[in-house]
Amino acid sequence: MELKNGLSVKNGHLYIADADACALAQKYGTPLYVMNQEHIRKRCRELRGAMDKYCPEGRVMFASKAFMNKAMCRIAASEGLGMDVVSGGELYTALSAGVPADMLELHGNNKTVEEIEMAVKNNIYRIIIDNFDEIDRIKEVAQRLHRTRIPVEIRLRPGIEAHTHEAVQTANLDCKFGFNIASGEAMEAALRLCSDDTFELCGIHCHIGSQIFELAPFAVLCEHFITFADRLRAANGCVLHDFNFGGGFGVWYTQGDAPQELGDYIRIITQTLRELCQKHSYPMPAITVEPGRSIVGEAGVTLYTVGGVKDIPGVRTYVSVDGGMFDNPRCALYGSKYTAVCANKADREHDRVVTVAGKCCESGDLITKDALVPADISTNDILAILTTGAYNYTMASNYNRNGIPAVVLVGCGHEGIIVRRQTYDDLISHDEIPDFL
Ligand code: LLP
Repeated sequence: MELKNGLSVKNGHLYIADADACALAQKYGTPLYVMNQEHIRKRCRELRGAMDKYCPEGRVMFASKAFMNKAMCRIAASEGLGMDVVSGGELYTALSAGVPADMLELHGNNKTVEEIEMAVKNNIYRIIIDNFDEIDRIKEVAQRLHRTRIPVEIRLRPGIEAHTHEAVQTANLDCKFGFNIASGEAMEAALRLCSDDTFELCGIHCHIGSQIFELAPFAVLCEHFITFADRLRAANGCVLHDFNFGGGFGVWYTQGDAPQELGDYIRIITQTLRELCQKHSYPMPAITVEPGRSIVGEAGVTLYTVGGVKDIPGVRTYVSVDGGMFDNPRCALYGSKYTAVCANKADREHDRVVTVAGKCCESGDLITKDALVPADISTNDILAILTTGAYNYTMASNYNRNGIPAVVLVGCGHEGIIVRRQTYDDLISHDEIPDFL
């Protein structure tokens, strides 16, 4: 098997950057999330570099929902990336890690008063407004705090259907996010924001969806944006200086996935927009992108210990590992597929088709179907699942009271824990037994 993304095979073992996966499993235990710092930084630089080339005033905001902890905040900030946060918890984590507030934008379709207050008090870069109730809520907070001209963008729902899983499409008409353009509500919201000095309407936003391999939907989005911005200018003279294209750039999970060069998304967006701006005599806005998966996805590998192999003749073979939907719910949620490598038999032929199952008490608890592993896979082997850097750790749970695994950072000549493994005591630490029991 040809390995990419900083993975290699030496003496029969899988290496992640300069770290022997088997040694990591031995030292830190399994399940274990391993993140390759080199690869994360490389991806940050690809995007930041493309932005510097095509739109130097543009912003790359890492979508922290993909992989969030204080160490990741440090890495993103040190590469010149801002951050997209979507809850008080993400905002708090970023601020605690020392990310400057003017590098943070707040998303969400139901921001609480507390979250809005935290954003306003800290003077974050932008709030991306999702709906009319939120406009009222921000106004109420701003008045209470005697604040005006809060910098905002509005999230648009233009009705674009991207070729990706239904659960992660976010710009089609039947979707909870943003203001509908076709019905006129987006324009109504924009006009309201422009006429109220509580707000400074700086830009428009749309996130089409996630794990998108085509460039074309982003060019289509440019047209929706310019049409909308031009109509707003005609209505009240307001010129928007920022167009925010969200994230969604696709990554490699299994054979057959053919991701684009990251810089190509930036190139296609800026080129298309420049032409459209000329056509409409509109000043070229700065662009923002909010990539999550494409920064961290391929940098992550999860290591498991195989507990047993169960062959059901004529049906399938299950390889059971010591993790499951509590550390990676993506197969259970979306039917996602992954590539496996047996870390201690990495140089052997991987030609046996198996289903990798977790240890939770339900049949749907699978890590992936149709993985290829060595024919002699057996108990105590270390099984590596690739491309688990995005939406695994951040979507982990304590289902069946399993502890969330540790995250170890490797690469760049260093190795260290960035999130500690949850202990049994962590698991009971929030439990209370009231007096009446
Ligand atoms: N911006 C906004 C407003 C978003 O909602 C998202 C992702 C992103 C940016 C980043 O998208 P990315 O570059 O990571 O594709 N849990 C799902 C993915 C959900 C994506 C949610 N929003 C999964 O595991 O596939």
